[in-house]
Amino acid sequence: MAVYSLIIIFCVSFLILVSLYLLNSKEGVENSLEQHPETVGKFYNETTDKFLEVYGEIIQAFRTKDVDSYLNYTAKNMRLANGMKLIDAGCGVAGPAMHFAELFKDIAIDACSISEVQIEKASQNILNKNLGAKINTTLCDYHYLDKNFNLNSYDRVYFLESYGHSQDKKKLLDAAWEVLKPGGMVYIKDLFAREVEGEWEQHYIDKICEDINEAYKYHIGSLYETLSILRKKGYLLHFVKIPEVNEDEFENLSISNDFQNLFNIGKIESWDNYVFPIDFFEILAEKPRFSSEIERHLYFMNKS
Ligand SMILES: C[S@@+](CC[C@H](N)C(=O)[O-])C[C@H]1O[C@@H](n2cnc3c(N)ncnc32)[C@H](O)[C@@H]1O
Repeated sequence: MAVYSLIIIFCVSFLILVSLYLLNSKEGVENSLEQHPETVGKFYNETTDKFLEVYGEIIQAFRTKDVDSYLNYTAKNMRLANGMKLIDAGCGVAGPAMHFAELFKDIAIDACSISEVQIEKASQNILNKNLGAKINTTLCDYHYLDKNFNLNSYDRVYFLESYGHSQDKKKLLDAAWEVLKPGGMVYIKDLFAREVEGEWEQHYIDKICEDINEAYKYHIGSLYETLSILRKKGYLLHFVKIPEVNEDEFENLSISNDFQNLFNIGKIESWDNYVFPIDFFEILAEKPRFSSEIERHLYFMNKS
């Protein structure tokens, strides 16, 4: 009898321990998801001066030597036009937003960042360039665009190498959907993990991606996961493509390497056997004017 009691006590204790462990690890994951944007904010509070030193006001790894020409290219692919309302989700110090505001006479941009330091600098930059009538800055987590900006109101929500910081890309693209007008579009330009056939090489790529994530507080996305989230939500994919710039204009990512070497963030110790870990893509996707479930065919019929 005593043996049976001991077995029952052992089993019950074991079950309690397992439940506690599962509960804890679930909370752990949820907490880390909740806390991640704060970590990113802290990272940029501490490193923005360093980024400015090396990158200037456009904090993007993929760019042309003349960064203005790259932003013109971006504006064209985002299909920007006068009269539009935009959200720059992850605006840095407002380099791109100021460029677009200067490019278009009549444009309104809400620029947001999770970093206090960046928002302070962005506001000062906008003031210095007298662009306050066109650009507003907001300190907020872009996963809550729908809590910070008007719903169904924006022509574009764009992410210029900011999307990959998100630890919850579905939440992010859901929030973007809420603030977009029907017919509005989300534009993403970012890096995505490379895929190769060789098992060893893939393993190596994944490892380097992990290192980049750690160094830059990133969550390098899977292209397919992003496309799947967009399509399940009902976004219409206009294009997915590599950024198309002339080879001789491409900056060759040398600024990023300088940055890594200068500040020891994710430094590449040796180029021997280095496998390039990522590809850059541009994605443009539309929140349809028609209900994509019931009236999807009308979309194509009414598009002139
Ligand atoms: C690599 S920088 C790019 C900045 C800017 N797009 C540019 O081209 O100069 C990434 C930006 O994403 C922002 N970011 C990352 N996570 C964010 C979040 N959860 N909410 C808002 N902004 C975020 C960072 O604060 C930073 O401004």
